[in-house]
Amino acid sequence: MNVSELFQIVGEQYPVLTKYPFWVVAILAIAAIIIIMISEVAKKAAVDIYDKSKEVLKATNISREPASPPIEIEPTKPLQLTFALSQRNPNFTGREDILAELRAALTSGLVAGWKQVLTGLGGTGKSQIAVEYAYRHKEEYKFIWWLQSEEPAALASNYAGLAKELYLPEKSCADQTAIIVAVKRWLGDNSNWLLIFDNAKSSDDIEQYFPREGTGHIIITSRNPNWGHLAGVLPIQVFKRSESVDFLIKRTKKGNQESADKLADALGDLPLALEQAGAYIEETATSFADYLKLFLEQRSKILKRGKSTAYPETIATTWDISFQAIKKDFPEAIDLLKLFAFLAPDNIPRSL
Ligand SMILES: Nc1ncnc2c1ncn2[C@@H]1O[C@H](COP(=O)(O)OP(=O)(O)O)[C@@H](O)[C@H]1O
Ligand SMILES: [Mg+2]
Repeated sequence: MNVSELFQIVGEQYPVLTKYPFWVVAILAIAAIIIIMISEVAKKAAVDIYDKSKEVLKATNISREPASPPIEIEPTKPLQLTFALSQRNPNFTGREDILAELRAALTSGLVAGWKQVLTGLGGTGKSQIAVEYAYRHKEEYKFIWWLQSEEPAALASNYAGLAKELYLPEKSCADQTAIIVAVKRWLGDNSNWLLIFDNAKSSDDIEQYFPREGTGHIIITSRNPNWGHLAGVLPIQVFKRSESVDFLIKRTKKGNQESADKLADALGDLPLALEQAGAYIEETATSFADYLKLFLEQRSKILKRGKSTAYPETIATTWDISFQAIKKDFPEAIDLLKLFAFLAPDNIPRSL
């Protein structure tokens, strides 16, 4: 078939084309072929780009599919967890010998070595030593828990609270005794933990919370000296004079060795009394000598009133000086202090 025959056939099929000369129809046909070819090439390029972009998305982990929900893994063993431990005291001073003795006793491997009691009068710094020990050895324990132990009911609920922190299945049991048993079992099965029972009244109140074996360490602080049958006892005395002087200068950022020495002597080197004096001196910009004068006057008044039973008269005096200053500047704060006096000293909620 030649071109004119083809033209005739197409003309019969599409009579409209016969209206135009042959060369016009030929050009239209060639243009149609070129358009079809271009669109084929474009289609192929689009498919290539789509495939390429799919590969890139895959490589960069981006997906247009909705993300699957993350898998929740309940940790069974906490790492480096610290609970209820108070802030480290930036003015912590001295006590190097007792801290070393405490560490050596806890790690001695002796039968009762893993349980140590810091005993001594109120305000000698037992709790401070326990806090400082915990911070100094934080890296060596996986788990540190501070338990206020003065009130048996509060202690039981704090101890049971461990179950939640440890993700124990018994954590939501209605029976508190069952939770306590579970926590005790966990302590027996795990190592590298430190429990601090602060301000315990007697062994009867806390013995039930100890696992049988020494897989971890226990520090108890108590005013009661009778613990010999249960744990190692480390008696805590007041500061050495050099510690008192260092503390007063560090706490107030003023004074000299001589005036600090005289004040420390009057305060009986008792850390709590030194802290109260230091706070007052810093707050009111008083000198060591003036505070000493104030202290001696106030003490003779207090001694006339009769001796305090819970704390030595040193504390009663330093406390009274601070109390009078607060009363003068913030009379409304006294009502709050009276309210606190009715509450257990260690359990006042921060929100109050
Ligand atoms: N080593 C210390 N360095 C600095 N301040 C101390 C030290 N020991 C005790 N204190 C101060 O004395 C206060 C009473 O100490 P604390 O440990 O609570 O006594 P305790 O537990 O024996 O009753 C603390 O709040 C702190 O201000
Ligand atoms: Mg204490």
